[in-house]
Amino acid sequence: MQELSVRHLLGIKDITPQDIQLIFETADNFKDVLNRPIKKVPSLRDITIANVFFENSTRTRLSFELAEKRLSADVINFSSSGSSVKKGETLLDTVNNILAMKVDMIVMRHSSPGAPHFLSKHIPANIVNAGDGTHEHPTQALLDSFSIRERLGEVAGKKVVIIGDILHSRVALSNIFALQKQGAEVMVCGPITLLPKYIQQLGVKVETNVRKALEWCDVANVLRIQLERQQMKYFPSLREYTLYYGIDKKMLDSLNKEIVLMHPGPINRGVELSSDAADSHHSIILNQVENGVAIRMAVLYLLAQRG
Ligand code: CP
Repeated sequence: MQELSVRHLLGIKDITPQDIQLIFETADNFKDVLNRPIKKVPSLRDITIANVFFENSTRTRLSFELAEKRLSADVINFSSSGSSVKKGETLLDTVNNILAMKVDMIVMRHSSPGAPHFLSKHIPANIVNAGDGTHEHPTQALLDSFSIRERLGEVAGKKVVIIGDILHSRVALSNIFALQKQGAEVMVCGPITLLPKYIQQLGVKVETNVRKALEWCDVANVLRIQLERQQMKYFPSLREYTLYYGIDKKMLDSLNKEIVLMHPGPINRGVELSSDAADSHHSIILNQVENGVAIRMAVLYLLAQRG
């Protein structure tokens, strides 16, 4: 039986192209299961998983919880708000107390880059990074590539532009690693102030003109402006950002080709995407969300095999 090269999923940087293929093939099988009347399999019966969230989430948290339940795992959910973290308990103490209740796997979101990497050096359980600050969001990148593969047949050779707040985005970094490992060409596009200074050293193309980026690409993955992570003003106003970087359906329809429109959510409607673009036939945004469950089932199942 094939297995992953890692026992934690901390980032796409650490996994191989073969790992990505194995996750996709496993997710294909789980997607078939999810389309059956009975959507549940006993694969993780007797495994207990804690979803430990120190930062807000809708899609990732619900998608992991559903994936765990579809695999018949026992699930507990922890939110830092309302917990003893507010009384000063450390991350390691918090997680060790959860593990003392005989928990096997930890799915963690944290605002500090590297928090799951730190934990992996101190605890015996498998860890899945559900987003660590501005660093990585590996399952998001996997579900994004899986959705491109589903729509376009393959990821290799495709031109993918990631548009928006690249500087503060864990989705951007994980997508760059994932797409390149599968042989796609990657471009980043945004105002110069929201592009990391040495980003081209990752082997990506850099563009500041959104029209040119859309004319180049097969797929546009549009990101949210992360105002909550911005310590200073990176552009004059949201209105001006929308004027130069906002994408609407008229713009998409005016391209002389079909492109695939993606967004990891949550969307700031009327800022980076107009509603008519987000809800248009170009968009696979809800397919991304749907695929998140199968991808997370695959990741949890394969990590549980590693033990
Ligand atoms: N895409 C994503 O991570 O969304 P949530 O923050 O709602 O989990």
